[in-house]
Amino acid sequence: MEKGLVLGFDVYGTLVDPLAMAEPLRALVGEQAECFADMWRRKQLEYAFRRGLMRRYLDFDTCTQQALRYTQQVLCCDLPESDQGRLLEAYLYLPLFPEVAASLQALAAQGHRLVAFTNGVETSIRALLAHAGVLAQLEDVVSVDDLRTFKPDPAVYAYLTQRTNCAPSQTWLVSSNAWDVVGAKAAGLRAVWVRRQAAAVFDPWEVEPDVVVSSLAELADWLAGRPNQASHLS
Ligand code: LAC
Repeated sequence: MEKGLVLGFDVYGTLVDPLAMAEPLRALVGEQAECFADMWRRKQLEYAFRRGLMRRYLDFDTCTQQALRYTQQVLCCDLPESDQGRLLEAYLYLPLFPEVAASLQALAAQGHRLVAFTNGVETSIRALLAHAGVLAQLEDVVSVDDLRTFKPDPAVYAYLTQRTNCAPSQTWLVSSNAWDVVGAKAAGLRAVWVRRQAAAVFDPWEVEPDVVVSSLAELADWLAGRPNQASHLS
């Protein structure tokens, strides 16, 4: 199979699980924890998208913080500042999905170049991935913060190819976020959709991922020429 690809890994939702925030939330909001974590994540993304469109950039940590404030108001939780601070701190300790560490190792051993490619702030992402024990496995962290816009702005995907000095046709986005895959494909990159839940639905737009896998382990198998379950969308 292909060797020496650049694999640009989305971070939140692909390497680490933002919905794991339900765990620290449980002590604060009880049975609303899952709903809270889900709304917080959706609002965080919405804020980033809107800021990108409006060209009113504030970084992703700010989107996360403002989305937290929004969510607690909507769900009438009224968390004290100290609890909000602790939740934002916990965001730097989100857990990896279980197969990630071993799969990154396998992909690096196959000769691919691995980078984090994220809407997140570089310092926060480096801290997060260091806590998770995988920062050293990545060649670089490419953050939108350098450009002051957000994926899926096509400029961000072009920036990945520039930073890695790799042709778009050899540069793959790896993401569980369908909107990210659509953005990468629209910008001329190749893209793997990591369909972490069997029930996840890909946006029925005019582009499709090159490959669909259910985990990074499956991606490593596919790139090693052991197709396993990996498939095209249709
Ligand atoms: C990332 C988020 C937005 O880019 O998923 O890591």
